[in-house]
Amino acid sequence: MIKKLRIMIGTNKKNILALTFIFSSLLVLASTQFPPWDVPVEANDLENPITVDKKNLDAGKAFFDLSCKACHGATGLGDGAVPSGDFTTKAFTGQTDGAIFWKIQQGRGLMPSFKAVQETSLWQAITYIRTLAAPQEIVAMKNATIVIEFDESNSKKLITAKVYETLENGEQAPAKEVKVNFFIKRYFADMLIGGSNNYTDDNGSVSISFPEGVPGKEGKLQVMAKLDDSGFNPAGLTEEVAWGVEKAAYWNDDRQLWKNNDFVPLWLLISFFGVIGGILIAILYVLLQVVKIRKLGVGR
Ligand code: HEC
Repeated sequence: MIKKLRIMIGTNKKNILALTFIFSSLLVLASTQFPPWDVPVEANDLENPITVDKKNLDAGKAFFDLSCKACHGATGLGDGAVPSGDFTTKAFTGQTDGAIFWKIQQGRGLMPSFKAVQETSLWQAITYIRTLAAPQEIVAMKNATIVIEFDESNSKKLITAKVYETLENGEQAPAKEVKVNFFIKRYFADMLIGGSNNYTDDNGSVSISFPEGVPGKEGKLQVMAKLDDSGFNPAGLTEEVAWGVEKAAYWNDDRQLWKNNDFVPLWLLISFFGVIGGILIAILYVLLQVVKIRKLGVGR
């Protein structure tokens, strides 16, 4: 192996010098990976128009996870598929939101240009990226009280969840801007109702309209309100409501195979045993042929 290499490169001093040169320049390139950007002054002064709140941070994270995470890494350390710089360094956090915005729109090298993306999404992503550098707070569990109310007075069915947080002095205060997802309990996967973008208001209250015609045993449904915030305990509540419809009776509802045989219609029985019989006959026929072949002595 080494002999082969020697033959390829030769023991020529010039070649070895050239190789050393190439390797060292690669090393230098790697260390000055990201030269500074030329951000225009106007871009630098551009202000982030959105407010820092949970809704925007959630949206920013969703967008980051979808469009940026692959390269920049889940925590913005630049450790994704493409080396892309660290979002938690002083050099990065020291710049204005406007400068970051400009860079994202501009792109450079392997960093794509995001000019085609809605500006709000970019600002939300920037707001989220800023939190990656902040030291993670240790979140203490907050005691929550959840109440679910069902209201049918206005011909429309409304579910309201109210979330209260127990303060240190034991008082209850409305928990604002908590994301709440509503589900109807189902055997395999719970059914999300009212979309996935519901937040409590200043009174800690959030309402969604209830879908019509959901089947349930005797019309009864288990409705869950789940807090999408791991800082609360408990994180959800389930209540029963009779807003469903009795399971629809299909034309063959009590005539299915796994039900009592008495109800199986004749045509179904005939076709079922017909198929089984057909298969048995086919197998018997093949066996018969094999026996015939043996008798004839073919293959001996
Ligand atoms: C295909 C990989 C890739 C994707 C996807 C990507 N980036 Fe980048 N990003 C890079 C690379 C590589 C650089 C370094 C470019 C340079 O400095 O030449 C970079 C640089 C940046 C910078 C400049 C960092 C600095 O030092 O100021 C920002 C800001 C940035 N990306 C944000 C984003 C955001 C936000 C998204 C998602 C909307 C995103 N990037 C998606 C690869 C990517």
